[in-house]
Amino acid sequence: MEFIAETPLDMHLHLREEEMLSLVTPFSAEQFAGGVVMPNLVEPVDSLDRLRSYRSAIQTACGNAVFHPYMTLFFRDYSRQELMTARDEIIGLKLYPAGITTQSEAGVRDFNRIEKTVALLEELDIPLLIHGETAGFVMDREKEFLPVYERLAGAFPRLRIVMEHITTSEALTLLDRFDNVAATVTLHHLLITLDDMAGDLLRPDLFCKPIAKTPRDREALRRAVLEGHPRLMFGSDSAPHPRHRKECLDCAAGVFSAPVALPALVQLFEEADCLDKLPAFISTNAQRFYRISPPAKNVRLERRPWQVPEHYETVTPFLAEKTIAWRLKPSGSD
Ligand code: DOR
Ligand code: ZN
Repeated sequence: MEFIAETPLDMHLHLREEEMLSLVTPFSAEQFAGGVVMPNLVEPVDSLDRLRSYRSAIQTACGNAVFHPYMTLFFRDYSRQELMTARDEIIGLKLYPAGITTQSEAGVRDFNRIEKTVALLEELDIPLLIHGETAGFVMDREKEFLPVYERLAGAFPRLRIVMEHITTSEALTLLDRFDNVAATVTLHHLLITLDDMAGDLLRPDLFCKPIAKTPRDREALRRAVLEGHPRLMFGSDSAPHPRHRKECLDCAAGVFSAPVALPALVQLFEEADCLDKLPAFISTNAQRFYRISPPAKNVRLERRPWQVPEHYETVTPFLAEKTIAWRLKPSGSD
């Protein structure tokens, strides 16, 4: 049995730099026609110069694969001139609250002082992508951040806002109230809950921000995605860290899901008897909301089980050692 993914997109992706970039990029480039690349490098991507050199390093890491890197700039105060110059080379600005996750120290400390730049984004029609968490109790962070989304969506009705990697049923309700708001959902938040990470022996490979939530939240996310909600987009948030940064006293947040993303999504949608809803989630919803025309690319998968390796060089993948029912068909095979 075969499934053809037409122009699949990963709308939230961490590709890192140097050796890690070379190691992880081919996984995304073979499965997807394009991806939204996060700017939280050790030194944030917050200038057009840095963005261009990062994009060219990504293109090199893609080799011959057709893969469009949709670049983001790290949110800070930008002038109109800077944004006008950058506009054609970015898909949006990515806003991190300061210190909320990996390499976000340069993020926003005072949300009362972002209006000027946000108004420019609305005027120039540049989407705003947000990591929406407060510094509160870890299970409540996303819920506590929702008023910020509401304020922005109401005050800037023409601004396109993306709630990144939503994990709660409450976040979903915002989609129904604001047409200018969309959201990405990860694979891991559709598959795991807090119990998988910490309910038995501790699993650093499943520790991420936002943290996986309750079975009720996972169910709500699944239902919305599997019903084909028109403003939910797949964004893996694949975030590789070497094992020595995961299996240590101060474990870094991030799930490395790039190697399994598309096969595991096909399995999830097939098991729910909803394969017809997958194209919206992995491609057309994102094209419509972002108004992008990615390179056409058919990715073929076949129903043939494989076991996910325990690790890829220094990195443990999501679903390590588990069996996935679908795999990519090598290009050129029938
Ligand atoms: O778990 C996460 N890891 N969440 C993020 O928001 C950032 C990411 C990373 O860059 O490692
Ligand atoms: Zn991320």
